[in-house]
Formats: sequence, C-alpha cells, structure tokens
Amino acid sequence: MIDHATIDRIFAAADIVEVIGEFVHLKKAGQNFRGLSPFKNEKTPSFFVSPSKGIFKCFSTGKGGNVVTFLMENEKLTYPEALRYLAKKYNIEIVEKEETAQEIQLKNERESLLSVNQFACQYFIDTLHTPEGKSIGLSYFIERGIREDTINKFQLGYSRQDKDAFTRTALEKGYKTDYLVKTGLTIERDNYKADRFHGRVMFPIHGLTGQILGFGGRIMKSDEKIAKYINSPESEIYHKSDILYGLYFARQAILKNDKCYLVEGYTDVISMHQSGIENVVASSGTSLTQNQIRLIKRFTHNITVLYDGDDAGIKASLRGIDLLLEEGLNVRVVLLPEGEDPDSYARKNNVSAFTAFIAANETDFISFKTNLLKKDAEKDPLKKATLITEIVRSISVIPESIVRSVYIRECSRLLDVDEKTLYTETARFRRSNYEQKIKQAPAREYFSETETQVPVKYEPLPAKYNAEKEVIRLLLLYANESLMLNPSIENQTTVAVYLLSEIRNDELEFHHPVYALIYTEMEKLYQKQENITEQYFINHPQETIARTVIDLITSAYDLSKIWKRYENFFETEEMRLKEIVPEALLAFKNEKVLRLIRETEEDLRHAQEQQNDERMQTLQVKYIVLNNLKMQLAKGLGDRIIIT
Ligand code: CTP
Ligand code: MN
Repeated sequence: MIDHATIDRIFAAADIVEVIGEFVHLKKAGQNFRGLSPFKNEKTPSFFVSPSKGIFKCFSTGKGGNVVTFLMENEKLTYPEALRYLAKKYNIEIVEKEETAQEIQLKNERESLLSVNQFACQYFIDTLHTPEGKSIGLSYFIERGIREDTINKFQLGYSRQDKDAFTRTALEKGYKTDYLVKTGLTIERDNYKADRFHGRVMFPIHGLTGQILGFGGRIMKSDEKIAKYINSPESEIYHKSDILYGLYFARQAILKNDKCYLVEGYTDVISMHQSGIENVVASSGTSLTQNQIRLIKRFTHNITVLYDGDDAGIKASLRGIDLLLEEGLNVRVVLLPEGEDPDSYARKNNVSAFTAFIAANETDFISFKTNLLKKDAEKDPLKKATLITEIVRSISVIPESIVRSVYIRECSRLLDVDEKTLYTETARFRRSNYEQKIKQAPAREYFSETETQVPVKYEPLPAKYNAEKEVIRLLLLYANESLMLNPSIENQTTVAVYLLSEIRNDELEFHHPVYALIYTEMEKLYQKQENITEQYFINHPQETIARTVIDLITSAYDLSKIWKRYENFFETEEMRLKEIVPEALLAFKNEKVLRLIRETEEDLRHAQEQQNDERMQTLQVKYIVLNNLKMQLAKGLGDRIIIT
C-alpha cells in the first residue's frame, strides 16, 4: 500500500495536461484543453481537460476522472500501477504505509532485484557495442534482419562468451551476490560464480510499466545439445505464467486496434513490430495461462492466434485455446503459409501484405478447429462422434449464450449435424462444467453465467440516491459560498454551515455507501475548521471516493452547466444557490420521511397481526404526523416532489 502522503504528493506534482498530453493531442480552449477522445473514434473533439480542477471529461463516452483514473482507463493500469507511473515520471519517492517487516523486506527485495536487472540490461546493451559484441551479437541480429532502431527499442543486448564477465562487473559495482543469484543472472556453485547467459544474445522482458522483469537469451549457433533459449528462473519479480513478452510495447496498438495478435516467440514479436504490426504479444513458447489471458483482456477482447504453417503442435495447443473462449474472448486463428512463422513472414512481407493475408485467412476458432479435425473424421463415424464432442466442449465454455448459438449454427452446417443435438450436448457439458466449478471454487463467483470480470464503472445510480447525490454535489461545488437565505435578518451563512447543521439537526443519514464516506469526511473537515473543497475529494487517495466525486460533478445532469460555465457562456448556478440549496435539503428530508412512512406502515401491519392495540395507537399518531410532514415538504418542493 502506498502511503497517503505519497499519494497527495503525486497528485500535487502531476500536471494533468502534461500527462494526458502524452496520449491525446490537446489544444487550449478557454481555461480548458480539448482534444479527440482517446476512448472512441471521433472527428469532433469532445474530450476536455480542466487543469484548474485536475479532471478530464469525455463527452462522447461519459468517462471522466482525474490524472490517475485517466491512466487506469487509457493505459489499463491498476490504481497502484498508475500511481507508480506518475511517481516515476515526477521523481517522487514512494513511501508504503503500514508495512509489516515481512512486506518491507519483500519490497526491498523486489526493488533490489529490479535494479540488478536494470543494470544487467544496460550492461548487455553496452556489451553489444563492444568489438566482441559487434562481431558476434550485433552481426547475428543484423543477419536476421533486425534493424538498429528495433534493437534499441527492444533493448536487445549481448552477453560475453567469457563465463563470468557480467558477474564480475556487477560485483565490482557493488551488486550483492544474493540478488544476482535470485534474478538468475548468476549461477553460484560451491566455489565459483558464472553467468547464466554467457555467450548469448539477450532479450529483456519488460513489465507493464517498462521495468525489466527478466531475460531470454539465445545461442547463436545451432547446437543440438544446448537449449536454444534460456530464460530467467522464477523469482519474486519474474513469474513466467503472468508475463506476456512484448505487451509493454504493444499496449497502445492493442487499444487502438482493439485487437491483439498472439504469437509464440521473441523474434516473432520483434519482426512483426519492425514490419509495422505492433499489437502483438508472445506466450514465449508455452501454453497460455489464465493470468496471461486476463492481462490481454484488460486491453481487448479480440485475440487472433498466429500459427506457423507447419506447426505440428497445433492440435496439442487447441485445449489451451478453450481457456481463451472461457474468458469470453473472441478468438480467431490464422494459419501462416507452409514453412513460415510470423517472424519469417513479417520479414518477407510489408504491413499491408501481412494484414491482407490475415484478413483473408482469419477464421473463428470453432470453425478452425472443426475444419482441422474434420479431415481425420471424414469417413469414420466413430471419429466423427469424438470430433463432435470435442467441438461441443469448446462451445460449451463460452460464457455468452448468443455467441454459443452462433457457433452451434455454424458447426451444425460444417459437420452436418442437427442443431438440436448440438444444443443438448452443449447443455450437458455446461452442467458438468458448472458442477465442477462449484466443487472447486466459492459459489458466489458463479451466480450469473453472463457476468463478466470487468467491473461496470459508468452505471447510473439508482434513483433512490438522487437526493443524497444532489446534497453531496452542492457541498462539493459550493461549500464555501455564502448563502443569504433571508435578507431582512442579516444572517449570512455558507452552504456548508447551512447543510451540515440542518442535516445534523434532522438526523439525516446517507445510505449510499460512498456518499456516506464522503459526508463523514466533510464533517471531519468542518470540525477541524478546514475548507471543504472539490480538490480535496477529486484527488482523494481512496479511489472510489475520487471516482464518485468526479462522476458526480461531471454527471450528465449538470454537465452542460458546469462546462459551459468554464467557458463563461452560461450564468452560474451560484446565482441561484439560495433556491437550489434549500430545495435539495427538502428533497433529502422528504426521502427520509417517505422511508419512515414505509417503516411505520410495516410496523402497523405487525402490530395489527399481534393485536397490540396500544402500540397500534402510538403508531397511528406517528403515521399521521409523518403524513403531515410529507404534505408540508411537498409544498416546499412544489412539483419537484416525487412520491414513490
Ligand atoms: N523457447 C524457450 N526455450 C527453448 C525454445 C523456445 O523458452 N528452448 C521459447 C522462446 O520464448 C521462443 C519461443 O519459445 O521465443 C518459441 O520457440 P521457437 O519457435 O523454437 O523459437 P523462435 O521464436 O522461432 O526463435 P528463433 O526464430 O530465434 O529460432
Ligand atoms: Mn523463429
């Protein structure tokens, strides 16, 4: 956990126009900046950044937020990742909060391992440009058609043939043996230390924010006895099953194309990039894991797997692809021409030829699998039955029923099997999948089959919170504005003083969990005699608070007013505060009264059932008083009152 003071410092340092400006071309428009939405293809700019408030708002998608939520939305970073990104950009040291001794040790260890890798990466890059590096490593890359700019971009390097050249240098520079061993860069035996990667060209493996998590190293000669590639061993920072090679370089292109290509190897990624196809990642030769899939899913739901033309392993890899379907991704497959892998094909064809080939040959996974297995089963009814089962198994893991039925139709056509049979079989599989999952995992994850893992962020609030919402909104925007409710008696007050004291007097409560949190904080500020400001909440370290507040002050309801106000086209809401504020309070009170009436009705029914006359009388009096109150409030509210 990053400590609050650090979060405050990050928000204070981050210049929202500068940060967003790296992703969106922004132009000044009045006090704000304006540009084309990064979330949608559009011709008229509807994306605004307000430097004074530190917020952005996209009018075509409704998305809005602060500098951190922008990075989360646009770069698909998690909250802590976004904070770390900014901390790095603005040179702010991260202080973690409430860490146990164990956590501190772990963090220090992670950081030490990362810094060893960073050093090693630079060392291998430098070595590539020494005489030995040039004649062996660089010439190898060049022979493979990898250009200098590509080498620099992917930070490719070279590790000397001398068996401990790197380790010696690292130790001289003061890096500890312990970390050199834990990163796997150094192998330690009883009485000697050696470089794991000596005599190899080096492919650093980047994390989502560009940190070096590990390396792959390739020998340059073909030698049957030595593994062609070796990789960093598992460590605190390198978890093979959580990493996709190339994702750091592919993020933007995946988002822009809303599509990701999946290949097998380092060189496939690099060559495709070089040829101009940048939305590509590699599983590094192993079958995909669920974590890798979820990583892709942060960026896109469309994945296309590129298979080598003569890949003997296709059939073996089919099962792994079911996992992609299961995660609700749209999976397509392209089989490259015989003898080609993505690397060789990218070197022979330019972007347009490659993309044209993909467009012409891309098939959905189910049809691909059906056609692939169909050949074996053509004349053998028994094999055909197995094939049907195989295909149905794949269809059955797809979460959306509409997608399933599309595939069932397609499959029925391809295999010449009755649709109804396929439906029955799919249902059978789904039942057994479901039962298995129930056994393996806590039940609550499976209450809805169509539920996705992606949280829905821009859902409108249920109407019952409207009054609470308006009160919070007014406090956020106008807490410190003066409020002259009755000019004849000179009682000037502020919006905050008025609302907070009225709310306390009438014991009004906030039922929406986040509004309740926000209100409690407002009370605290008030008691400490500090100002309640938008800024305090916009940059609040609790992400849900910041998000809610920003959504609230930029919500569709008052959008036009707020944003036009910035550009001085519109008369301000402030001018009408003495009507708006008491109205909002009345509506809030009204909600409470309506709730009390409902509760009293319930109590009355109860008392009647139990024939408790005394209680019934008390309740009836209460009921009448409440209904009177309701009528009075209705008068105050005029036609704004909504009775449920
Ligand atoms: N791989 C590995 N260890 C090996 C072989 C392969 O880790 N001994 C991984 C590497 O990530 C490699 C990927 O599997 O990039 C695909 O393997 P392969 O197709 O054999 O290698 P290519 O990527 O084609 O590499 P090259 O073109 O350099 O031969
Ligand atoms: Mn290859």
